[in-house]
Amino acid sequence: MGRIGKVLFSEKQIREKVEGLGKQVSERFSGKVTEASPLLCICILKGALVFTADIMRRIKLPVELDFIRLSSYKSGTETGKVDLLMDLKSDVEGRDILVLEDIIDTGATLAYLKEFLQKRKAASITFCVLVDKTPRRKKELKIDFTGFRLEKDEFIVGYGLDYAEWGRNLPYIGVLER
Ligand code: IMP
Ligand code: MG
Repeated sequence: MGRIGKVLFSEKQIREKVEGLGKQVSERFSGKVTEASPLLCICILKGALVFTADIMRRIKLPVELDFIRLSSYKSGTETGKVDLLMDLKSDVEGRDILVLEDIIDTGATLAYLKEFLQKRKAASITFCVLVDKTPRRKKELKIDFTGFRLEKDEFIVGYGLDYAEWGRNLPYIGVLER
């Protein structure tokens, strides 16, 4: 089991941030998505589950929801390798897509997903990430909406983020005590 060393983002801070992100996303797509062509939200399991559940309710537009499960390897030799563990159910061709992710670190996961969605001919791909951990970025990638920026290479848990499956149900985000 893990332990939290210090709380980085409180429940209240997260709630306010997510509310703001929802507003920005709503503004961005207002007039562009309709009942006939809803915004397709893609939640990257498992980490983005809690974030997705909260932000979806702040997006005041027609949305659809789908899930994908990806796994990225962090070990030295395999850095950048991403596996598809569970595919989408939706056809993404011609769709406006909002990718919801808990945290971007090296960028491998989102770079993989971008290529994956482009190959399937998505009309547009927008990235909305709760935490941008900048120090270990390897893939340059434009993140359209970012909640918090983490300038230190710290491992964080809570609000969906886990350490070996521990800590996903914490209502705040904290640094793991090692
Ligand atoms: P990337 O592919 O290196 O950008 O890593 C992204 C994925 O790594 C995320 O979807 C998380 O599952 C995981 N990850 C990266 N940093 C952390 C962290 O600090 N806490 C928990 N999970 C993390
Ligand atoms: Mg993840």
